Parts: sequence; structure tokens; C-alpha cells
Amino acid sequence: MPNNEFGDFQTPIELARALVSALPRRRWARVLEPTCGVGNFLSVIGEQHPGAERVGIEVQPEYAAAASTFGRVVTASIFDFDLARDIAWTSEPGPMLVVGNPPWVTNSQLSVLGSSNRPARANTDNVRGIDAITGSSNFDIAEYIWVKLLTEFSDRPVTIAMICKTQVARNILLYCARRQLPVTGSSLRMIDAKKWFAAGVDACWFSVELGPGKTDYTAQAFPSIDASQPDSRIGVVDGQLVANVAAYERSKHFDGPSPLIWRQGIKHDASAVMELTENNGPRTKLGTGVDIEADYLYPLFKCTDVYRDKLSMVSRWMIVPQSHTGDDTAQLADSAPKLWKYLTDNAIALDGRKSSIYRNRARFCIFGVGPYTFAPYKIAISGFHKVPQFRMVGPYHGKPAVFDDTTYLLPFEDATACAVAYALLTGQESTDLIAALAFWDSKRPVTKKLLQRIDLSAIARASDRRTLRERALAANSSIDAVDQAIDRFTSRS
Ligand SMILES: C[S@@+](CC[C@H](N)C(=O)[O-])C[C@H]1O[C@@H](n2cnc3c(N)ncnc32)[C@H](O)[C@@H]1O
Repeated sequence: MPNNEFGDFQTPIELARALVSALPRRRWARVLEPTCGVGNFLSVIGEQHPGAERVGIEVQPEYAAAASTFGRVVTASIFDFDLARDIAWTSEPGPMLVVGNPPWVTNSQLSVLGSSNRPARANTDNVRGIDAITGSSNFDIAEYIWVKLLTEFSDRPVTIAMICKTQVARNILLYCARRQLPVTGSSLRMIDAKKWFAAGVDACWFSVELGPGKTDYTAQAFPSIDASQPDSRIGVVDGQLVANVAAYERSKHFDGPSPLIWRQGIKHDASAVMELTENNGPRTKLGTGVDIEADYLYPLFKCTDVYRDKLSMVSRWMIVPQSHTGDDTAQLADSAPKLWKYLTDNAIALDGRKSSIYRNRARFCIFGVGPYTFAPYKIAISGFHKVPQFRMVGPYHGKPAVFDDTTYLLPFEDATACAVAYALLTGQESTDLIAALAFWDSKRPVTKKLLQRIDLSAIARASDRRTLRERALAANSSIDAVDQAIDRFTSRS
């Protein structure tokens, strides 16, 4: 998908045909294609709904001229257009459809391009509403166009169906719910954006019904354009956007603060220095042996090791020069002279760390280190992978494992508490809650915020004790110890 200022990528005609065929079977009286390009949707509407009055809006005159074969096309920027007032429909009012594929470009890409193809500041009030909802000022231009259509047409029944990123569809659902727009139903069909647009994003055909009737801010999610059955429903429940409404309904009692604090792995921004490979002892990436005090070396696992369960052998080490981010590293000169020499020999890489978090800190400091780092037992999960895989990790020859900063972990002093937490996290209640809360198309679908919402105590109280005990025992051998650990969870609030 080219990132030019018009987010210009014309929808292939076969795709437009398939998408229009997936719409509700209605006799559309009026069809609008905003940002119509060469008018592929207008042309398909002509084939499938010849009785409909067709109007397009397009900013690039050559495209507008091409599209005018298929309907009346206004050459204008949609940003300067009042959709409710400026379209002079000639047909009798009747079922109205808006179809299309708004530009795929973000506000900040446009500013990098120095483009003026954006809404005037005065017109961005609604979009500021979107910022407030999504927490991002880098909204997609498509989001702005959705909001414009939904607000300007909110006084009449209309179906709006457009191609957009799934992230845009979610933001729009949340926006509609927060603004209480008269949405009576919606659906979302996944599109293979790689195949059709050579774009590495999750895109969908998002269709929203506006009109009188009971409002509904959830959307049926279909796995493909022509799927006859939805595989889930996403949307807003109790003011929150969830990825799977049914799973959320089943698990919302467990959506509470976790009694245990999730931690992120260690961040150091200097892997060439701080990470060593195991090959007959620790070595640099270039293969040079590194001789430093063993107390500062820990078995290291990265998020991919955690995800793939490559945890049986130590293949990397991490140098952990502090037990707290605030510790002074200068004292290592006395307490660990070999480590000190190694760090000062490699100081260029460490002193050159760009992130401002290292400013005014101890010279060789790291982040994400604390007593939890040194807990012998941990449950770890990758933040990057698309399937939640919790792993129990014990010590290696008495040394606790450490993780990179794309991994999240729960620390435990004893193996049994770790086994019970593992059984709680991998049971149906937690699995449902994660299915409800995680959006797998995000770059980092599993976040600390999400994990912190899994209320392990509520799950322990609701679980059948025998099953829970068996599952914990499968990971740890003493019944008494497992029972005591379960008691500790059930009595936590
Ligand atoms: C992703 S393409 C889609 C074109 C067409 N809707 C289709 O599906 O084939 C986006 C289109 O939006 C047009 N466009 C970009 N900015 C616009 C604006 N401010 N007003 C109207 N059209 C615009 C571009 O010229 C381009 O043709």
C-alpha cells in the first residue's frame, strides 16, 4: 500500500464485486462512494444494483473523470464537503448505502509528506474525540472519514460499508458507543490485504447500520469475505472494547486487578555487551570468552524462547550488574573487578545508549530489575506472539532465569505457588478473559496492562478445587503444598 498523500490504492474490481455481494440484499435507492478514485465500487453497484442513483466524490480530477462513467462524480475534497447538505440527490429517498475504500494514510504520514490533504483544523473536533478515545493523535485519515460520515448521516437510516484496517473498525465502534450514535448493528469481514493490496496490515470490510431502533455497538466478525458464519463478535461491552463478546460475558467476573504484580523482563539497550552466548562458557557474539564474576551472570531467555518453549537448556547469559535500577555501578570496581573491567572496556556502547531513560542514571544501569528478577521460579509469557503461551521456569543450577524486555513474568519464591498460578492462568477462565481482551493484530498483543487484569484470586475461588489441584500437581508433586498455595490464592482479594 503506497504511503502517498492520497493513500491512493484502487480496489481491484473482483474484490469490489465480492464485497458488494456480501452486503445485505436490499434495493438501494442511493449509493455514495466518498473518495471514489476511478470508481470501481460505483461500477460494481451499477452491475448489481442498476436502479440505484450513484454519486462519487474524488479529489484527483483524472480519477473523477474516469469514475464519472459510473455515476455523478463531484471533484472535491471530502474534507470541504458537507455530506448531508452538498449532495443534490435526484432520486426519491430510499435505502441509502455508502461504500468505498478511504485513503490508507495516517495523519503523521501526511505531515511528513508536507501534505495539505487533511481536514482543516477547525473541522477536527470530532477527530479529537477519536484521539481521546484511542489515546493517539496519530489517527488514520480513514478514521476521520468514518467519523464524518457517521456524524453527518446520523439523522437518517444508512448503511456504511468500507474497507479499513481492523484497528480503525475497532476505534470506530468505540467512538460510536461513547458518542451514543444511532448504530443498530455492524459486521466486519476479514480481507486478505497481502493478496489484494500487498499490504502487511489487518484489513476488513466494515459495515455499520445507522438508523432508529435499539443501539448495538458490537460487530459480528467473519473470518473471510464470503464466510456464511461469524466466528466471533467484537465490540463494546460495559463501556469497554473487547475482542470476543461471548468470551468476555463468560469471564468478566475475573476481569479485576491481579493480586500479583506482573513484571517486564530486563531492558538494557546494549545486547552486544550485556548478552553473551553459551559455548563452553559465556562468549561475546564474536566468540571471545568472557571471564567475569559468576554472581552477575544469569541464564537469559528471549520472548521467542518462551513462546517456543526452548527453555530446557541455557544458550545465552545476561550480565545483570545491578539488583536495582537505582544501584550505583561504580562500586563494581571493588566488588566485581573483572565485571568492571569488562564494562569499562565496552563503555562506548553503554555510554552511547540513546534513550533518555539512561540520562542522569548510574553509568551501566539497566531497567526492569528488582527483587523479582532474582526470584527462583517464574511464569513467563511473550508479549509479541499471537498465541498466549505461559511457561513455568525454574532455576538453572541454582540460578534464576532472566528475560528480555519483550517478555512478561510473575516471580515466585516457591515452586508450588508457581504451579498453582500456572494452573490458574492456563485454565478456561483465564483463557476466555485473554481471548476477550487481546487484539492479536496489535504489534504487542499481550501487555502488562492486560495481564494485570487477570484476577487469579477470583479464578481460584470460582474453580473446582479438585481439577485445579490436579492441574497444579501435574506441574508440582506435593498435594499439601499445592493445597496451601491454593488457599493463599483464594484468600487474597
Ligand atoms: C484507497 S483509494 C480508493 C479508491 C476507491 N474508493 C476504490 O476503492 O477503488 C483512496 C482514494 O481517495 C482519494 N482521496 C484522497 N484524499 C481525498 C480527499 N481529501 N477527498 C476525496 N478523495 C480523496 C484518492 O485520490 C484515492 O483515489
